[in-house]
Amino acid sequence: MLRISPLFLMTFLLCACTGGGESPSAHVKQENFGVTPDGDSVDLYTLTNPNGVTMEVTNYGGIITSLRVPDRTGTLDDVVLGFDSLSAYTSTAYRAANPYFGALIGRYGNRIAGGTFSLNGTTYTLATNNGPNHLHGGREGFDQVVWSAEPFQKDDRVGIVFSHTSPDGHGGYPGRLDVEVTYTLTPDNTVAFDYHATTTKATPVNLTQHSYFNLDGDGDGPILDHELQLYADRFTPVDSTLIPTGELRSVAGTPFDFTEPTPIGARIENTNKQLEYGGGYDHNFVLAEHPSDTLRLAARVYEPDTGRLLTVRTTEPGVQFYSGNFLDGSFSGKGELYEKREGLALETQHFPNSPNQPHFPSTILRPDEEYTSRTTYQFSVRDAQ
Ligand code: BGC
Repeated sequence: MLRISPLFLMTFLLCACTGGGESPSAHVKQENFGVTPDGDSVDLYTLTNPNGVTMEVTNYGGIITSLRVPDRTGTLDDVVLGFDSLSAYTSTAYRAANPYFGALIGRYGNRIAGGTFSLNGTTYTLATNNGPNHLHGGREGFDQVVWSAEPFQKDDRVGIVFSHTSPDGHGGYPGRLDVEVTYTLTPDNTVAFDYHATTTKATPVNLTQHSYFNLDGDGDGPILDHELQLYADRFTPVDSTLIPTGELRSVAGTPFDFTEPTPIGARIENTNKQLEYGGGYDHNFVLAEHPSDTLRLAARVYEPDTGRLLTVRTTEPGVQFYSGNFLDGSFSGKGELYEKREGLALETQHFPNSPNQPHFPSTILRPDEEYTSRTTYQFSVRDAQ
């Protein structure tokens, strides 16, 4: 009988996966992820880059379920919050509390006051799914859409083109909106999001991505030690329902000053009306002026123990920094309970409630225009200081 030693078998498997000891080539794997309550079959795509970084994404909601990136020793760990089964995302309990783990957000990321706005003399009414306000596209937002998906590989870049047509009037929004969002994983450990949309009637559009990061590894404690730098010297203060008051307020001398790298936990418990309203940070920051069609630095997040550094760049004028204040241990993903402040989101966007704030940059897309927007999340490491 042929005997194979466990060591030989392990070496053989490793070589098979890495192409004989060389770095793995970029590739996409597609597998079934289950069936939604509406009977739609959805897939899970695993994107791998030449460094072995992997991102798992499903065409249900364009959700990133896992993202494994190296720390300063080269050890890969999953740095996003999420679940490993479709049913966890489609459950009634999850949809009711909806933290939007890893999801593609639309038609309008963030809040619209009272779920209403007027355009060209018509008043439109949207679902109010967050207290008195409309949040992240309402009860049937893009986070619950089964997107058409086209995986691709171009040299050492891998990605998926998601597309969807939102019918005229869907959720109360005017116009048919044709949306295409491309997720790309590049060889320099960057995840890029390219958004494109056209409409048949003037309508507000504000697309974003709602991944929660924990650079220690998901489920590995709070993000309060993460050092954050935001390239913003103003933010949009809010009322008690998290609707911007309209003011663009200087961050100078406030707990909102992240112009120098600062641990998120350093001032989060300060007595401050804005922190009280958000239960911590849950605010839109006004990024430094920049030509709108080029990428600008928005944020850097550094985790000192692992050395992981996340750099966010965007063509958008704002970024919502959300410190995971509403996580409360109700959901466990990938074997871990997600407790308060165990993940942070940096949602690049136009400002909240722009359809009702004429002096904010406009979010109205018209039939003769194209909506384009780009955001990148780049992962690297820093040596210990
Ligand atoms: C909002 C938070 C909300 C979270 C999940 C963030 O964009 O600003 O208030 O709890 O999304 O819905």
